[in-house]
Amino acid sequence: MEAADASWGPWTSRFFWLGVAVVAFWVFLLLRYVRYIFRLWIKGNPGAVGPHLGAWAVVTGATDGVGKAFAEELAKRGMKVVLISRSQEKLDQVASDIRDKFMVETKTIAADFQNRETIYSNIKAGLEGLEIGILVNNVGIGYPVPDRFLDVPELDKLIDNMININCISVCKMTQLVLPSMVKRSKGVILNMSSIAAVYGAPFITVYTATKAFVKYFSHCINVEYKDKGIIVQNFVPDLIFTKMANIPRPNMFRPMPERFVKYAINTVGLVSETAGYPFHEFLVWLLQIMPKWMTDEVTTRLLMYAKNNLLKKRKEN
Ligand SMILES: NC(=O)c1ccc[n+]([C@@H]2O[C@H](COP(=O)([O-])OP(=O)(O)OC[C@H]3O[C@@H](n4cnc5c(N)ncnc54)[C@H](OP(=O)(O)O)[C@@H]3O)[C@@H](O)[C@H]2O)c1
Repeated sequence: MEAADASWGPWTSRFFWLGVAVVAFWVFLLLRYVRYIFRLWIKGNPGAVGPHLGAWAVVTGATDGVGKAFAEELAKRGMKVVLISRSQEKLDQVASDIRDKFMVETKTIAADFQNRETIYSNIKAGLEGLEIGILVNNVGIGYPVPDRFLDVPELDKLIDNMININCISVCKMTQLVLPSMVKRSKGVILNMSSIAAVYGAPFITVYTATKAFVKYFSHCINVEYKDKGIIVQNFVPDLIFTKMANIPRPNMFRPMPERFVKYAINTVGLVSETAGYPFHEFLVWLLQIMPKWMTDEVTTRLLMYAKNNLLKKRKEN
């Protein structure tokens, strides 16, 4: 008995310390995660965005959904706002609401981001002479209905429009505002990507690919310009209750755009990429630890369910 104890003694002790090391490692990871959650979602960085960056904010796709919520939040923080979207009538309405509510100057530029050949010289002229502190590259379009690549109606048009609106706009708008930000050594560029870019959503393939473009464009520009005082941050949210999302009602996991923006804007300067909203951050984490076959299966089922619902709704109307 004594001999057995003697031979197991050192092993027991080795296993014990190995166990302690493993537990300590997990405790360290857990504490680091708790600190991250606290920093991002409870403490936040509320002072990062405001007129100290420059008097003007520029928001693309500013007449509805997330873009409108960003424009309002920036105006609330005392920034003058340039609103860019397609319809002059909607732009005038949003601009006048913002002026009345937040007592800040506004400017509108009507531009259809489908037309990449013609609009950027006009936008450049509209932004001339403004001290731009923040650009929100928000404009984006989704699929009318999720579908297999070759079954998408008017596929040629969808490919062109999606690349022009979701990708080219981000590069061109960045190209327009970045030089003056670099000159002043300050500025923030916020880009709206999507959770689809994190795991790759089949059946909305072109959308996913455009959002992956935004994700990596943001990452690289951030690395290139962070030592020049510029913050480039990317958002990869899940569903937000807007026209594009086409969902029946908001809930904890599908926030109103104002709620999303309230959280997202408080993370600026803390991380280069986030879902922008705590419950979406949890979903991103979950998708990253799930095996790939499982995320593909879940996404396919969800998007096919969405497709059937949309087609059913269309038949009823
Ligand atoms: N909603 C979501 O669940 C969700 C999730 C993840 C990521 N995102 C991303 O968040 C961004 C905003 O989405 P959202 O849900 O707020 O969209 P939304 O409600 O459909 O609003 C889109 C805005 O963009 C403008 N717009 C659309 N096409 C345009 C064009 N060709 N030229 C100029 N402006 C155009 C629209 O204004 P007009 O129609 O008046 O021109 C509107 O102001 C997008 O990049 C989207 O991919 C959304």
